[in-house]
Amino acid sequence: GELPPFRNAPTADFAKAENRRAMVEALAQVRGRFGKDYPLLIDGREVMTESRIDSLDPAQQTRVVGRSASADAGHAEAAIAAAKKALKAWSARSPRERADVLLKAAALIRERRFELIAWMVYECGKPWREADGELVEASDFCELYARDMIRIAEPRRRDVPGETNACTPIPRGVVSVIAPWNFPLAISCTMVAGALVAGNTVVYKPSEQSPVVGWHLVKILHEAGVPAGALNYLPGVGEAVGPTLVKHPDVNMVAFTGSRDVGLLVNRLAAETPPGQDHVKRVIAEMGGKNALIIDDDADLDEAVVGVVNAAFGYSGQKCSACSRAIVLDGVYDAFLARLVEAARSVKVGPAEDPETLVGPVIDADSRRKILSYKEVARREGRVVLDTDVAEKAVVGTYVGPMIVADVPPDARVAQEEIFGPLLSVIRARDLDHALEIANGTPYALTGGIYSRSPVNIERARREFLVGNLYINRGNTGAMVDRQPFGGFKLSGIGTKAGGSEYLYEFLIMRSITENT
Ligand code: NAD
Ligand code: ALA
Repeated sequence: GELPPFRNAPTADFAKAENRRAMVEALAQVRGRFGKDYPLLIDGREVMTESRIDSLDPAQQTRVVGRSASADAGHAEAAIAAAKKALKAWSARSPRERADVLLKAAALIRERRFELIAWMVYECGKPWREADGELVEASDFCELYARDMIRIAEPRRRDVPGETNACTPIPRGVVSVIAPWNFPLAISCTMVAGALVAGNTVVYKPSEQSPVVGWHLVKILHEAGVPAGALNYLPGVGEAVGPTLVKHPDVNMVAFTGSRDVGLLVNRLAAETPPGQDHVKRVIAEMGGKNALIIDDDADLDEAVVGVVNAAFGYSGQKCSACSRAIVLDGVYDAFLARLVEAARSVKVGPAEDPETLVGPVIDADSRRKILSYKEVARREGRVVLDTDVAEKAVVGTYVGPMIVADVPPDARVAQEEIFGPLLSVIRARDLDHALEIANGTPYALTGGIYSRSPVNIERARREFLVGNLYINRGNTGAMVDRQPFGGFKLSGIGTKAGGSEYLYEFLIMRSITENT
């Protein structure tokens, strides 16, 4: 029968004792499954490799959450061959059948809610609520794309007397999906499920920092009915296995989300047409951000302070959407800064398994080193007004205390480069012209926002603040599927909107068929 219209799934209410209890139980159960081995899955066969990737709990680096296999170029070739072989049968299924597989996967994701959240808590240091929001996002992607595929598959007809015209989609072929760790479930799910429902087959490489969450996603999709060879699981080190996934002549499309440098490399490598390749590869490359919230001089400062603190420090600032620049109008600069620092001081830093935590550990030791080096840069470039001490916690986990640096020049490194940690630069603007110029003055264009009570200024921001996702009088993270299709432009990405009604077209080729009658 016809599907009911898309609706976002509800989040879990952790104020309810039963949900808190279920979560605590799931955390304990998942801890009991630490340290297991995760093989590659090529054409449904489990392949263990000699080298392994230890996926550690960032809150307690002595704990191995799981040990995944680590693919090499040969494994990548085998997985691509399996995906190629599986293409004919999978793409021949009706769009409705493939949509039903996604609906089943969405239901499984929701059924296994607390367990999947627990894996994200331990493998990625993601606090409960953030992980729950991510779980909902993954389920929503499946629900939305299932409906979109059915809609898009309906031929677009333009008949005139004596001539029928129909436009219909076909899949692109084999898709390499290369994913980041910071949304280990949802971002992998948007790319993998989007590719599959459109009739493509997939070789999926999760990030080396989150292979276990990636494994669970793959198992769920297989359980939901994706055939073995249509979805291959290929954890591995990016530099080792990535180039084959991008350059191989039998790969038709690469769907990448991650850092700018790797995204640009992927885009460049995919543009080559090696011998034996009879097509130009399609690339999705969703990359970083240097996102700003503008605080107008008539803004509601209570709201603005909460919005900036959450957007800058939620999940330790490790979101492509995070606020890393607060651009504050001269008239409220001192008042806003004082209140911001006060609020940020009370932010709870700790392990993600603790429900009170806003700022968990950062993903790993390399990441902490990088963020700490930016803290040194910040000390030279601005006036540090907050640097929360986490020395005690940092003995066992990769914690970084939130930092706020004020009076930062707009062209400073900490105001231009993506840091991907809890470091917020505060920049003074003379007026709204100046604020908008600063806001737009980076190579990125992902998210942004303005707190203002002035309709004229809000209207100007709508027109002139050029980012993929603009938010007015709210924080600039937490886009919801369908309501706020997500993705940036400039060097933030190619402009593909995940969770939007055009997303699936990226994975499809349109054919126009005319018949004289
Ligand atoms: P990353 O670029 O380090 O890694 C992303 C993926 O690329 C991983 O799977 C990695 O193994 C792989 N990779 C690394 N080198 C490769 C190579 N030479 N060839 C092919 N693949 C290779 O990024 P990350 O640290 O996992 O994620 C954080 C970054 O992702 C941030 O910059 C963040 O802004 C960005 N991000 C963007 C979005 C978005 O929608 N725009 C969403 C989430 C994250
Ligand atoms: N889609 C995520 C957000 O909006 C990155 O925060």
